[in-house]
Amino acid sequence: MGVEDFKARARTAWAAGDFPRIARETVSDVGPAIVDAVGIRTGAKVLDVAAGSGATSIPAALAGGDVVASDLTPELLEAGRHAAIAAQVAIPWVEADAEALPFADASFDVVLSTFGAMFAPRHRVVADELLRVTRPGGTIALTTWTPAGFVGQMFMTMAPYAPALPDGASPPILWGDEDHVRALLGDGVTELAFERRIQHVTRFASPDELVDYYRAHLGPMIATFHALEPDPSRAAELDAELRKLAERTRVDGEWTFEYLQIIARRA
Ligand SMILES: C[S@@+](CC[C@H](N)C(=O)[O-])C[C@H]1O[C@@H](n2cnc3c(N)ncnc32)[C@H](O)[C@@H]1O
Repeated sequence: MGVEDFKARARTAWAAGDFPRIARETVSDVGPAIVDAVGIRTGAKVLDVAAGSGATSIPAALAGGDVVASDLTPELLEAGRHAAIAAQVAIPWVEADAEALPFADASFDVVLSTFGAMFAPRHRVVADELLRVTRPGGTIALTTWTPAGFVGQMFMTMAPYAPALPDGASPPILWGDEDHVRALLGDGVTELAFERRIQHVTRFASPDELVDYYRAHLGPMIATFHALEPDPSRAAELDAELRKLAERTRVDGEWTFEYLQIIARRA
């Protein structure tokens, strides 16, 4: 599979299920937290990359930013459009690949991406795009799942059951490693701060409830199981692995979704 086919599959996968519901019900603290950490000035030009249904774009606009939301998946942009109307903020929703952003060089004061840019296949290409559209002295702020946290482990569990990555692509979870991010942003940034943070998730009464929820709503998981339909024993293996993971990672009735918050100043 080539990179473009991979992205077409990714777009279909993220449109499946109900990602806006997951964003709302499990990780809703993350967008407001990064907007707070960045300290967006009124009127600052803000780009949210791989914005999905606006979990971070909307808090950024409510904080006073002049926000543009971009994403590969039109269905999620449509959900974001509705959420923004309900929140009474004006945001343009632009269909865009994070590896080829349709914006001029240095055109944003702040470039955000919460669990978004990490899913574009070619890390060097997407990092260069984030750097290109941020003005000198501007801020790049990202959140990425770490290999130690539950969501990172869930994606790593699914990876061997999904089609191989195309040439030139790297696994998304590498964005959860500080050294990898340091190497990608390199001389393009003058300050680079990392913070490992936890989203505590208490809404699931049992490991099975958690797995059933993600199987019903998480597009990439739905797509992975769909592709395994011709091989039911392999699908059963993945299901069992996910249930074991959920069991093993439950502590005191909750799951800790560890993520890396990355805040950099553009050189
Ligand atoms: C986990 S969701 C995060 C969405 C949103 N940032 C949030 O915090 O709720 C991942 C998003 O990445 C988007 N995505 C995946 N590959 C992409 C690419 N190459 N370019 C732009 N967006 C992409 C998906 O469409 C999806 O909206």
